[in-house]
Amino acid sequence: MSVRIAPSILAADFARLGEEVAALEAAGADLVHVDVMDGRFVPNITMGPPVVAALKKRTKLPLDVHLMILEPERYIAAFVDAGASMISVHAEVSPHLHRTLAEIRSRGAKAGVAINPSTRVDSVGDVLTDCDHVLVMSVNPGFSGQKFIPHSISKVRETRARLGIAGSTADIEVDGGVSSANAGALVEAGATMLVAGASVFGSGDLAGAIASLRKAAGAR
Ligand code: DX5
Ligand code: ZN
Repeated sequence: MSVRIAPSILAADFARLGEEVAALEAAGADLVHVDVMDGRFVPNITMGPPVVAALKKRTKLPLDVHLMILEPERYIAAFVDAGASMISVHAEVSPHLHRTLAEIRSRGAKAGVAINPSTRVDSVGDVLTDCDHVLVMSVNPGFSGQKFIPHSISKVRETRARLGIAGSTADIEVDGGVSSANAGALVEAGATMLVAGASVFGSGDLAGAIASLRKAAGAR
């Protein structure tokens, strides 16, 4: 399975977001990862549907929206209408996960369930065939530039095994502290999408950073 690289604009210059997404596209990114935070589920506050709609006009890349908000079901329509191609909701704040994932799909976007580092993979076992991707957080959500939690690699392996048993080939997206130092191990464990903020935007060379992630991802 090919691996897609999704740079996170949480690490971009917010005053130049349009130029940053255009630069990502030119640099060979596969998707743009958009981190939506509400200051409630996570300590930080970032952006909402109007920003997604503005970004949609500046790039052809699919927008991969990661909702780190309470009551995400209230905002699915707004983010799809704004141009989201993929939407992930956190299991920890979604008591009606099955319904929420179904709504994302029914509105035409790919549906993902996200789990925090302290959330067990088996807590989403009953929705594995209802989602297009599982987002495994490899840091505690809230900020870019945090240290990768090594246990995430075995969590990705467990997720891939459970998906296999369920008969699903869903993507596994890993988010937080991803770099060329851990990309190979993550892909070997079953990851198919790598989110990267600091390792891409902190490099000063978007194309070089994306290429080295891709190379590391392929170096099994
Ligand atoms: C963390 C976000 C991540 C973050 C990744 O809460 O969900 O998408 O921006 O950034 P890095 O790669 O810097 O950890
Ligand atoms: Zn994210």
